[in-house]
Amino acid sequence: MISIAIDGPSGAGKSTLARRLAAELGYVYVDTGAMYRAIGLYALRQGADPADPDAVAALLPAIRLQLRCQAGAQRLSLNGEDVTEAVRAEQVGMAASAVSAHPAVRAFLLETQRGMARSQDVLMDGRDIGTVVLPNATLKVFLTAAPEARAARRLAELRAKGEPADPDTVLADILRRDEQDTHRAVAPLRQAPDAVLLDTTALDFEQSFAALKTLVQRAAAGQ
Ligand code: DC
Repeated sequence: MISIAIDGPSGAGKSTLARRLAAELGYVYVDTGAMYRAIGLYALRQGADPADPDAVAALLPAIRLQLRCQAGAQRLSLNGEDVTEAVRAEQVGMAASAVSAHPAVRAFLLETQRGMARSQDVLMDGRDIGTVVLPNATLKVFLTAAPEARAARRLAELRAKGEPADPDTVLADILRRDEQDTHRAVAPLRQAPDAVLLDTTALDFEQSFAALKTLVQRAAAGQ
């Protein structure tokens, strides 16, 4: 089995790049951030504080997550409801970052994620894929870009969707999420020692895609 682990901070373009590359190379794309987002969404809907470890842990037994591929795209359902679009909201991203700091939440998702890589070739993205989930991945990539570059991309994305966005708020949210994701005690965001660093600050989407594709193809050929 081939497994490609792609980690990095929010807004580095991981999921857009990984989704397209997986489709092109015939791997299953696993967006682990969406799983944390579904738990964040559930906590918000239940009126629980996403930052409260006990309150969130108490919700886990009632959560059933299902990832499936439909017409080449990954759909995520939460207790039978398709939440693929709902989990993309900004507020849900912040809740996801908060719930992802709780050990019970990470343990809840770990086996599901490992199980997916056991039976099929995967391209999995997240924060701790190379360090915790798939320590023996065929290839580990740490995909990053300067916070200002990530904020500019996020702003363009929001504006393209017609959502009003303020540049300072977008940058502040990215910095806050970086801080939360890199400073938590359990499975913090960090580059695995054997990961290849891909910094896309000065690259556009097509250049980033080409660089990532070359890395993956080389690793798969060496298998
Ligand atoms: O990649 P994303 O923005 O969809 O992820 C949402 C949050 O989930 C992010 O702030 C950190 C958390 N996350 C994590 O802790 N571990 C992962 N493997 C993936 C995401």
